[in-house]
Amino acid sequence: MPTPAADLEKLKADLAAEIATAGDADAIEKIRVAALGRKGTVTELMKTLGALSPDERRGRGAALNALKDEVAAAIEARAAAIGGAALDRKLASESVDVTLPARPERAGCIHPVSQTIDEVVAILGDIGFTLAEGPDIEDDWYNFTALNIPPDHPARQEHDTFYLPGERSSPGGPARVVLRTHTSPVQIRAMMRAKPPFRIIVPGRTYRCDSDMTHSPMFHQVEGLVIDEATHMGHLKSCLIEFCRAYFGIENLPVRFRASYFPFTEPSAEVDIGCTRADGTLRIGSGDGRARVARDAHDDWLEILGCGMVNPKVLANCGIDPARYQGFAFGMGIERIAMLKYGIPDLRTFYESDLRWLRHYGFAALAQPSLTGGLAP
Ligand code: DAH
Repeated sequence: MPTPAADLEKLKADLAAEIATAGDADAIEKIRVAALGRKGTVTELMKTLGALSPDERRGRGAALNALKDEVAAAIEARAAAIGGAALDRKLASESVDVTLPARPERAGCIHPVSQTIDEVVAILGDIGFTLAEGPDIEDDWYNFTALNIPPDHPARQEHDTFYLPGERSSPGGPARVVLRTHTSPVQIRAMMRAKPPFRIIVPGRTYRCDSDMTHSPMFHQVEGLVIDEATHMGHLKSCLIEFCRAYFGIENLPVRFRASYFPFTEPSAEVDIGCTRADGTLRIGSGDGRARVARDAHDDWLEILGCGMVNPKVLANCGIDPARYQGFAFGMGIERIAMLKYGIPDLRTFYESDLRWLRHYGFAALAQPSLTGGLAP
């Protein structure tokens, strides 16, 4: 016997009341199964349609389908409301106090190479340098030729340089592909890309076929380049003296410029800083820690970087008029200056991924190096 339409209205009203009072996701799911599940009340009513005459079935079927859709929509709306309320409660109970200080990071720390790059960038950034980058995979022309390194220079020999197979075209014609042996090719890329003035620093990976306590096949350098119309050796000296003193945190650190030779600079110099070797222990400056030291309280010199006035030939190779522009460049090894500042004896340990080493020499993850804090240990 088919249920009269009034019964459908009653069922609808009962279900609506149940749905409206369902308090959580479980309750609403139970109602859904009881009404629309395989043996649910609405589903069972649908099954009775088969026994009706075609005429009766048409009217009854439409009414049942409408009921089914309304119940499904009401369940869905209630489930969404319950979900939203649960999320609101969760958000309210799990609010984050953004004013709390950061927790010290126990799982990881900053590698000395990253820390040292950050320190160098902080110091030179303060003097007005901006950051530049270049590719690790270079070619012969950028890495050597444009830097005025002659074809017979020892650095070009296979045993120093990692050559990659093949050739590629470069501004100087076909060139061999190499892993850059220094960051100096980025000088060339910067000068060919834009017009002077330039004040850039270039930290990055470099590669040479070398491995012992103080050499690794992959290491890091930072390059500096300043080109302008009236840049002179005095600027080079004050910039690098300032850098050395800020980096080592010794206000009076003795710094000397010793004449040297690089094909890409003329004149060229190497920069030495004062140190002591009392008791066989190397100490930067006078050896009495970070105190202000007298100029002559050291007993030896330690080379830390190469520099010079950019060779006019290099400027010309990059299409810059040497009669109008001049400047200086410098380059230093990141690991080397990190070893000196933090007393790390063996370069190879930088890349051994030994967590004990990293915990010992690493730095807190959230320490921000700056000129006023965190630079000097
Ligand atoms: N490129 C040199 C090297 O790897 C370092 C260097 C020396 C860079 C003097 C310079 C410079 O820019 O002026 O040994």
